[in-house]
Amino acid sequence: MQLSDIRRLTPITQEYAYFQSSGFSPKIEPVIEETNRWAQFHNAGGAAPGINDKMLEGFEATRDKVAQSMNADSDEIVLGENTTIGINIVANGINWQAGDNVILSDKEHPGNRITWYSHVQRYGIELRFLEVVHDEEQMLEQFERMLDGRTRVVSISQVCRRTGQRLPARALVDLAHERGVPVLLDGAQAYGAVPVDMRELDCDFYAFSGHKYIMAPQGTGGFYVRRDRIPWIQPSWIGSHSQKEFDLVGGLTLLDEAKRFEFGTRNLADQIGFGKALDFWEEIGWGNVFSYIADYTDRLKEALLDVPGLKVHTPLRYGKSSGIVTFSLKGYTSAAIQEHLKENKVLVAPLELDGTMIRVSTHVFNNGDDLERLVAGVRGMP
Ligand SMILES: Cc1ncc(COP(=O)(O)O)c(C=O)c1O
Repeated sequence: MQLSDIRRLTPITQEYAYFQSSGFSPKIEPVIEETNRWAQFHNAGGAAPGINDKMLEGFEATRDKVAQSMNADSDEIVLGENTTIGINIVANGINWQAGDNVILSDKEHPGNRITWYSHVQRYGIELRFLEVVHDEEQMLEQFERMLDGRTRVVSISQVCRRTGQRLPARALVDLAHERGVPVLLDGAQAYGAVPVDMRELDCDFYAFSGHKYIMAPQGTGGFYVRRDRIPWIQPSWIGSHSQKEFDLVGGLTLLDEAKRFEFGTRNLADQIGFGKALDFWEEIGWGNVFSYIADYTDRLKEALLDVPGLKVHTPLRYGKSSGIVTFSLKGYTSAAIQEHLKENKVLVAPLELDGTMIRVSTHVFNNGDDLERLVAGVRGMP
């Protein structure tokens, strides 16, 4: 498998210039074939000899692959359906007292917002919003002023979903840790688009999706919890599979590993498909993926900046950004731009609660033709 194969194996690219991987990526055909093959195998009947064991073997192999992809250990990985589950594991695993506070950024996704909003109503916690600005020093000074003795956790994106800006994640983690405050990074827009390394980031928790840049089946993702932080979270949802042992009169010992946060019957075939997608990226090499996205977004920004009246909101260097390029065009609403581009077979996303900004997310299957079609579409706005 090579980088160029990804486009060939992603049929939608023949019809559309698909710039929506930050929302949901299209899937690589062999990943879906593999997922379907395992679903069929499982559907034969999990109780038949060997079937469930084989499925669980594949599921555990995905855990190992996820761990390897982010320089974590397998016992620190929870597999689940999406990023939001990881955020909920932390948000519902803290013994809240009224007056505790949580620091978010002002540009978080609803998944990393309303979970906490509900705790304002339920427990009387306070939310503090770090303003995301391009000047990192200013952001870090602001952050330092926000932390205090009642800050229980920081929950913030590694990559901002609105503009693709990379937040100074390691510096934020260091400042929080100096005050003994744990950090949850929302990796939904980072995992697969920029390097993600748990030891380098040194965060306590990391939530991520498989269905975005990894191009894994819809409804796959997971959660990293640094080994020493596992006992720090009170598991709010547990069940069969979470336990090391239990008795019939209330005795329970949970698993030592992060797996204690998994429970019940799960969709193993999709998770095995997640592992298959990771196999492809490993084979291609993450470095090749990131440098393709870097070159491509460089070219795209340059071309867009040439369009009269167009403003790019994303930092111009890939080192400070990701696979997202966000722009607005003077005199046009984002809905009008999206509609016009769709008529020209170009798929982009308008940013909600704004009305003017368009988010373009690029991936390795986007080619020069896609780029030209996008830029020509924007230039040709009626
Ligand atoms: C930054 C961020 N966090 C969380 C989410 C929610 O992801 P999921 O649907 O996988 O929970 C998204 C989805 O777009 C996102 O961009």
